[in-house]
Amino acid sequence: MKPAAQRLRFGVVGLGRLGKRHAENLAYRVPGALLAAACSPLADELAWARDALPEPRLYDDYADLLADPHVDAVWLVTPSSLHAQQIVDALRAGKHVFCEKPLSLDVAECERVLAEAARYPHLRAMIGFMRRFDPSYKDAFDKIAAGRIGRPFLVRSQTTDQNDTDGFFVRFAATSGGIFLDCTVHDIDVARWLLGKPRATRVFAAGAVALHEGLREFGDVDNGVAICEFEGGKLAMFYASRTQAHGNDTHSEVIGTAGALAIGHNPRANRVEIYDATGIRNECTPNFFDRFEDAFLHEARAFVAAVQGGAVRGGVVQDEAVQGEAAQAGATLADALEATRIGVALRESLRSGQAVTL
Ligand SMILES: NC(=O)c1ccc[n+]([C@@H]2O[C@H](COP(=O)([O-])OP(=O)(O)OC[C@H]3O[C@@H](n4cnc5c(N)ncnc54)[C@H](O)[C@@H]3O)[C@@H](O)[C@H]2O)c1
Repeated sequence: MKPAAQRLRFGVVGLGRLGKRHAENLAYRVPGALLAAACSPLADELAWARDALPEPRLYDDYADLLADPHVDAVWLVTPSSLHAQQIVDALRAGKHVFCEKPLSLDVAECERVLAEAARYPHLRAMIGFMRRFDPSYKDAFDKIAAGRIGRPFLVRSQTTDQNDTDGFFVRFAATSGGIFLDCTVHDIDVARWLLGKPRATRVFAAGAVALHEGLREFGDVDNGVAICEFEGGKLAMFYASRTQAHGNDTHSEVIGTAGALAIGHNPRANRVEIYDATGIRNECTPNFFDRFEDAFLHEARAFVAAVQGGAVRGGVVQDEAVQGEAAQAGATLADALEATRIGVALRESLRSGQAVTL
């Protein structure tokens, strides 16, 4: 661990389902980081922070955390509908900023963030497409770059959650942007990353409410499928679900002219196989954090490296000029904008029943 004086001082904002996990990573598992402050409007989340974290300064108002001169960078794990404005506020306060995906639920808001970030080139801004930091996804990327499957032209990718009977997904729908902007946005980013950043030209989406009737009021579904066409004859197929019985089953496949790669097809929790009268099976990762625990950690370490080391290998950068090296590790703000653009088009297609041209 570096001495405290050399560590990047973070303020984590939002201490819900994922914020608590990020806060613990920054506090205990990222050598160059110091968790200096935490913010939540909810008293019970601040009480959790008091018990679980190493004495960060606690704020119930984001503006107060931004005014803290002993915070170098903010780490936003707040509802998606708040991201864009909170990123802009962080940059204006002179803070580096990490923000969970998606960048925004609105394309114009994404553009506003990119324009604002360009005014602060000395500050890092990164969006949490952590799948790029998962060792298996990274290995697939490297194999594609080495030409192992020829020219990749098709990605088939899914993000599916275990069914949650307590209604979390219905409450979450008010600010999530719907299943395509919340779940499929990861698969969109993976597809663009593995296919060499092609531009999307047309999408078609369809969906069903299999279990969670409460989603209808938000125009959302609990199962969605989509096709995305890219220029240059590249394609992607997506599936998202909130109703899986067996666990969080997030996997991808990339098909090339000389082979294919499957990434995480069996969402196994560990390497134990159970042999019994029903056959042979393994237990599955119950939720996204169990599946991507390592990826979240690598992502945080890469962010610290990027801030402390400039545009370095493993770092994540906001400008296209240095993205050649960093593209293998993290998404740029421009990538995050494209993911929202495609996600918004999928939502529009779901609602209209028509293909959407981009
Ligand atoms: N990378 C991934 O795979 C992944 C997985 C889950 C969630 N996420 C993203 O993380 C974000 C949070 O998701 P979650 O599941 O933790 O949601 P959540 O509802 O459990 O937590 C949201 C948190 O934001 C806080 N909050 C609300 N308004 C605030 C404000 N004005 N200022 C400060 N804090 C505020 C809430 O108190 C809560 O702590 C979302 O954007 C979601 O898309 C990403």
